[in-house]
Amino acid sequence: MDKILITGGNQLNGRIKISGAKNSALKLMVASLLTDEDLVLTNLPALHDVYTLLGVLEGLGVDCNFEKDQQKLTLNAGSVTDTKAPYDLVRKMRASILVLGPLLAKHGHADVSLPGGCAIGTRPVDLHLNGLKQLGAEIVLEEGYVKAKAPNGLKGANILFPKVSVGATEHLMMAACLAEGVTVLSNAAREPEIVDLGNCLNTMGAEISGLGTNTITIKGKKKLGGANHHVLADRIETGTYAIAVGMTGGKVVLEDTNIELINSLVEPLARAGVDVIGEGNTITVTRTSEKLHGVDIMTEPYPGFPTDLQAQIMAMLTICDGAGMITETIFENRFMHVPELCRMGANISVHGSSALVRGVPELKGAEVMATDLRASVAMILAGLVAKGTTTMSRIYHLDRGYDNIVDKLNACGADLERVSDS
Ligand code: EPZ
Repeated sequence: MDKILITGGNQLNGRIKISGAKNSALKLMVASLLTDEDLVLTNLPALHDVYTLLGVLEGLGVDCNFEKDQQKLTLNAGSVTDTKAPYDLVRKMRASILVLGPLLAKHGHADVSLPGGCAIGTRPVDLHLNGLKQLGAEIVLEEGYVKAKAPNGLKGANILFPKVSVGATEHLMMAACLAEGVTVLSNAAREPEIVDLGNCLNTMGAEISGLGTNTITIKGKKKLGGANHHVLADRIETGTYAIAVGMTGGKVVLEDTNIELINSLVEPLARAGVDVIGEGNTITVTRTSEKLHGVDIMTEPYPGFPTDLQAQIMAMLTICDGAGMITETIFENRFMHVPELCRMGANISVHGSSALVRGVPELKGAEVMATDLRASVAMILAGLVAKGTTTMSRIYHLDRGYDNIVDKLNACGADLERVSDS
């Protein structure tokens, strides 16, 4: 099992190229199931989750050709015959459940393992399944599998989500593309990754309107064609590196991204003492004040503050002047990074869904453990400013969502080293 050693104290100066968004790429790959023609994705990040989903799609009979050096993936589902996605693959990457709707819409049946929960919560899929039932699917749960049938195809419906769900919105938007008639998704999620997926589906011949709003309308089609699509920049990677520069000091230009993607982060960073200036497809981040100031954060569905940046902003608050309160409203167990940060000398007290972070003058390097994807990168950020060396284990969590993070940070003056523990 590899580990990462982070020796703190260096400023970050230079340029970082932002990769394609994990949380867009995965859904775009699933969209290939809706057509018999080639779907070509460029700017695809070479992430562990991408490889896991490739395994699921290849298991279904999708022809996948990943030209990693060109970040280009060509998918063709024209010869898909097997519509069963097994537990041993789905459990590795929860978003695999999204193959259910497209398989059902195109082939009339599908058996997909229920995904497990994960460190940050139980992650139910009731909104996905109830929505598919409203589109006419017959669904039974048997031996941990969702067994779904739609012998006469799916029929458009008006679906009101009782709570905002990114995955359920994407799942039903894809399934509705091949349903007969019109589907309206109300109280839909508005994330940029959903807009990116919807734009790709429209290029494939779908007729989707309302993307980015809380009401998305899909006019079903008999079939979809192929497309070439450039994956949207990763806003969570963008925000992670912006926070890193705020913590270490220095000046970094983030490339191939857009400040619009991190609007909800710009204002709290400015209040904390970090300048974030956007210009075209670059963002320049500079630490403006000697000390950072504590800010209060509440995570919300887009366009609110993203839950996927909660652990990272908490790492920043640990070294701010004063205190900051973080309230996590999306997931029920997303403070797993708190005890690990406290091992480094942070002063954090958790009360239910809120964490009060009192700034301390300095963190100290320690042996820490990654517990989930975003918590793992929060420990990297803490290590960048800690006195001495931090050793982080279980870094497979990190590899799921950050493309080349050691090289990207070291190119800007950080001191990270990946070591094999075997
Ligand atoms: C997506 O997860 C992202 N993952 C998450 O990123 C992100 O944190 C989340 O959206 C929220 O923005 C991918 O895109 C692969 P939800 P998703 O459905 O779709 C509850 C990362 O670090 N819910 O918007 O699973 C759910 O438990 C990951 O990259 C139901 O109750 O999130 C949660 O409390 C972590 N029933 C809330 O809704 C359902 O059927 C929002 O979840 C579905 C969700």
